[in-house]
Amino acid sequence: MTLTIIGPGAMAMAIAHGLKESYTLEFVARDISKLEKIKEEFSANVYALKDFDITGKTILLAVKPYALASVSEEIKGKALSLYSVLAGTTLNALKENISAENHIRIMPNVSAKFGASTSVITGDDAKKEEAMRLFSAIGDTFWVDSEKEVDIATAVAGSGPALLTLVAEAMMDGLVKEGMKRVDAVGITNSLFKGFAPLIASNHPALIKDSVMSPGGTTAAAYGALEEGAVRSSFIKAIGEAFKVTQG
Ligand SMILES: NC(=O)c1ccc[n+]([C@@H]2O[C@H](COP(=O)([O-])OP(=O)(O)OC[C@H]3O[C@@H](n4cnc5c(N)ncnc54)[C@H](OP(=O)(O)O)[C@@H]3O)[C@@H](O)[C@H]2O)c1
Repeated sequence: MTLTIIGPGAMAMAIAHGLKESYTLEFVARDISKLEKIKEEFSANVYALKDFDITGKTILLAVKPYALASVSEEIKGKALSLYSVLAGTTLNALKENISAENHIRIMPNVSAKFGASTSVITGDDAKKEEAMRLFSAIGDTFWVDSEKEVDIATAVAGSGPALLTLVAEAMMDGLVKEGMKRVDAVGITNSLFKGFAPLIASNHPALIKDSVMSPGGTTAAAYGALEEGAVRSSFIKAIGEAFKVTQG
C-alpha cells in the first residue's frame, strides 16, 4: 500500500519513520525544496501541493489545523481514505474540505517521536483495521465509536504528557527542597517514570498503592499530604476542564 503524506512536519515524520519498512511512502508539501532530504532518506516520490491529485490515494494529512482550508484549495480529486491528525478538527470539517470515500481522525501525542504515542482514533468503520495497523507504527492505538470520546480522551492521550510533567517536576523540586542535588533528583524521578510504565500496565493502581503503603510509613504520610492537597479531585476536574475546551 502507498501512503501519501501531506505536510511532512514533526508528527508526519514520526509516523513515516514507523511505517517506512512496511509501506511505500510519498510526500507532498507546499515548498518542494523542503522535500529533497526526505526524498533521499525514504527513496520516496515527492510532489508539490499545488494541483496535487488525491484521486484513489490513501492520504495522511498532517498540516497545521489552520491550514486545512488552504490545502483543500490546492488539491483536487477524491481520495480513497483521508487520515487526519489535525488536533481539534472534526470529521465534519474534514468532509467539508477534502473529498474522500473514508474519513478517519487520529489524536496522537508527542511521544510519537519515540514510537510510544497514545493514539485515539475514530471515523469510518470500514477503515478501522487499516487505521489501527497504520498508527500502531507510532505506539498504542485505541479505536472509539464517537468524536465525543476522542474529545474526552484528549485530556489524557493528548494533554497527558503535559499533566505528568507537572507531577514529575513537583517530585524533582520536592527532592531538591529536602537537600538533594538537582541532577540526582532528575535522574531518580525519570527512572521512576520508566519503571512505573510496566508496573501500571500489569496491576490495578489501588493494588500497587496498597502493596507499598505500610502502617504509619513513608508512603502513608506522603499519600495523606497529597489527599489534603486534593490532588485526586484536581486531576478529575482537570480532565473535565480539558474536555470543556474541546466542546468550544
Ligand atoms: N506534534 C504533536 O505532538 C501533535 C500531537 C497531536 C496532533 N498533532 C497535529 O499534527 C499536525 C502537525 O503538527 P506538527 O507538530 O507535526 O507541526 P509541524 O512540525 O509544524 O508540521 C506542520 C507541517 O504542515 C505544513 N503546513 C503548515 N501550513 C501549511 C499550509 N498552509 N499548506 C501546506 N502545508 C502546510 C508545514 O509545512 P512548511 O514546512 O512549509 O511550513 C509542515 O510540513 C497538526 O495538525 C497538529 O495538530 C501534533
